[in-house]
Amino acid sequence: MLALQGLVDAQIGYRRAAGSTRASFSLSRADGISLSAPTMAESNGRNANGDSKDRTDGGLVHLQNRNLQSLDQDILYHLSLGTRSHDLVEMFGDVKHGIGTPSLQILLHEVIKLMHYARVKDPVFVRIGTSGGIGVEPGTVVVSDGAVNELMEPYHEQAVCGKMVKRSTKLNQDLAREIRDLRRQSDEFQVVNAKTMCAMDFYEGQGRLDGAFCYHTEEDKVQYLRELHKAGVRNIEMEATCFAAVTHLASIRSAIVCVTFLDRFKGDQVCPPKSVLSQWEVRPQEIVCRFIRRHLQSRTN
Ligand code: URA
Repeated sequence: MLALQGLVDAQIGYRRAAGSTRASFSLSRADGISLSAPTMAESNGRNANGDSKDRTDGGLVHLQNRNLQSLDQDILYHLSLGTRSHDLVEMFGDVKHGIGTPSLQILLHEVIKLMHYARVKDPVFVRIGTSGGIGVEPGTVVVSDGAVNELMEPYHEQAVCGKMVKRSTKLNQDLAREIRDLRRQSDEFQVVNAKTMCAMDFYEGQGRLDGAFCYHTEEDKVQYLRELHKAGVRNIEMEATCFAAVTHLASIRSAIVCVTFLDRFKGDQVCPPKSVLSQWEVRPQEIVCRFIRRHLQSRTN
């Protein structure tokens, strides 16, 4: 028995109006958006904790990140929208859900109970999905041999009844190696075992410079990525520690198989066209299908 958990990926974007002295995002109809925002200087009267004097500018949401001014295009990856291809004013509200540890943890509780009630024996759970790479070629499949939090600790932390509970994120090493070895010579991508860092956020939590807020520098980001790389981390996503901890607690063998969409040493935005991402996205599925096939065959032989 094998349970799969995939993620919905999406994109959104804005582009700064050419020649604008204000950070006013005023885009043509073809760009699909007409939006104004305060200057980045105006939004500097705020600290990293979010305190500010005034958040209103005719009701428009302020973007408090100077880094955004230098972008030619901003891809807001999870919302499946682009400023060239969509009318964001028309489409505002088209937000997809279903990522991150809270949703996953609910799902795991119920799937584990389901396994029990259905009397399933020796299930293997595999999380398949997408991630940001650290020092690996985009399109590489990472089969996690460890899952760490943002502080590089092998734990998933959760408050239960007002007390913090720390759970080990141990993953089955034999299973991780077995899945890695299912790469074929004809595959146009690498499959590697490495640690996966799980963040609580796509932007600041992953050291990105292109969020709506950014209070860290590029040097901070690069240093953090270097530390992660040195610790053996090769990809970042948002479910690994929860998935590893909960399955470990339930004594269920589990694996995490994610393709990388970019090398974070080279940037923050997920730039390849949708057609390329779609091809890459199926790579973890291909590898895991081989694993399922192999185990089904060994049962029938
Ligand atoms: N998913 C993430 O959590 N981070 C990335 O960089 C890409 C996909």
